[in-house]
Amino acid sequence: MKIAIINGPNLNLLGKRETEIYGAMPFEKFLDELTEKFPAVEFSYYQSNIEGELISALQLVGFEYDGIILNPAGYTHTSVAIGDAVAAIRTPVIEVHISNVHAREDFRKFSHVSAKAVGSIFGLGLRGYELAVEWFLKSAEL
Ligand code: DQA
Repeated sequence: MKIAIINGPNLNLLGKRETEIYGAMPFEKFLDELTEKFPAVEFSYYQSNIEGELISALQLVGFEYDGIILNPAGYTHTSVAIGDAVAAIRTPVIEVHISNVHAREDFRKFSHVSAKAVGSIFGLGLRGYELAVEWFLKSAEL
């Protein structure tokens, strides 16, 4: 099972950035734990602050991988093109947000990705990524 994790802008600052909202753990450390927890999964990880690079990353894995976990960060709320990319590829995408976007500013309540994703997880911290992996694994068993 091949799962790609793609993180959008500012998520390279996890652990340093607004830790009261996003927590104190750098993503690389979390990824090490995740990789250890799911030895049967081959993970790839990509983070970019640039919209077009995220689209290229989705296209690259989107016809080959078994699952994509995507946190488009701020582009969630603005990017028609990332929504289009999720619709264009074949690999199912789970949208993850660390914070509860529905409990924050109104502009965070809209997502260009949710309608094109198989599902969305928000507000559960980094655990959201782990739950997404579990979902892909369970779905593959069915
Ligand atoms: C986020 C929520 C977005 O609204 C925000 O712009 C982010 C992170 C989250 O994971 O909670 O950068 O996607």
